[in-house]
Amino acid sequence: MSAVDNARAIYPSLAGKRVFISGGASGIGEGFVEAFVAQGAHVAFCDIAEEAGKAVAARLNTPHSHTGAAFAPVFFPCDLTDIGAVQSMMAKVEEALGGIDVVVNNAANDDRHSVADVTPAYWDQSMAVNLRHQFFVAQAAVPSMKRSGGGAIINLGSISWHLGLHDLVIYQTAKAAIEGMTRGLARELGRDNIRVTSIIPGNVKTPRQEKWYTPEGEAEIVAAQCLDGRLLPHDVAALALFLASDDARLITGHEYWVDAGWR
Ligand SMILES: NC(=O)c1ccc[n+]([C@@H]2O[C@H](COP(=O)([O-])OP(=O)(O)OC[C@H]3O[C@@H](n4cnc5c(N)ncnc54)[C@H](O)[C@@H]3O)[C@@H](O)[C@H]2O)c1
Repeated sequence: MSAVDNARAIYPSLAGKRVFISGGASGIGEGFVEAFVAQGAHVAFCDIAEEAGKAVAARLNTPHSHTGAAFAPVFFPCDLTDIGAVQSMMAKVEEALGGIDVVVNNAANDDRHSVADVTPAYWDQSMAVNLRHQFFVAQAAVPSMKRSGGGAIINLGSISWHLGLHDLVIYQTAKAAIEGMTRGLARELGRDNIRVTSIIPGNVKTPRQEKWYTPEGEAEIVAAQCLDGRLLPHDVAALALFLASDDARLITGHEYWVDAGWR
């Protein structure tokens, strides 16, 4: 563990919280799983990548040095584009954790596409992998949150449509909708003390992003940021921990950015 790890905030209200994270087998989602486990939360996560998900669950199956937390994260293989599978998985998540207090809707697929190549089937698939499951995961968790007096739902948006990046029109359309959905859900669920927020990451260095960016491309992004340095999954997780904690008790209905000031 590095000095930075040792200096990270611990939120007492997150200990024992029952947290579901989608797409937790890699990248930012893996960072979320690790960060909530380190808070002593009880974490379940899903992914379509079965081997990678099992490996993350096995890696984090150790008491954490900050908290002594002994709750091993539980992995559920699931294709989130299949809403029937999402609904039966969420019932199993609720059973495994004894309820759900926090949802982090993280899974997505940022495949590049040109305008000319988009078919109706691609449109539907992109909405299914980037947008639709976020609503149905939230819908499945709400009854448990209501029963226990509240909860927090965190939806991953994207800076891409704010910047108008190339080759991502349909992904950007889904990511823009997530911000609208966040505001609508926050209004619908607020009186049940369920807070709904979006996190807008800038460009975060993950294994998948390495596929899209050359070192020169990464340098261009850093040059366009206000701050030096590459964002890492734990920088995004730091914001999610705060938004999920009781410290954020009156924060809902908006988007929060972690982008190093990329313009
Ligand atoms: N990395 C970035 O720079 C960046 C920037 C802006 C927004 N985001 C957003 O942050 C979130 C995480 O991004 P990331 O870069 O870690 O992505 P990633 O591709 O590394 O991870 C996404 C995870 O979702 C899983 N997944 C994909 N399709 C699935 C399906 N059908 N069912 C279940 N799981 C599925 C993948 O297997 C993967 O583990 C996404 O919502 C993304 O849009 C990332």
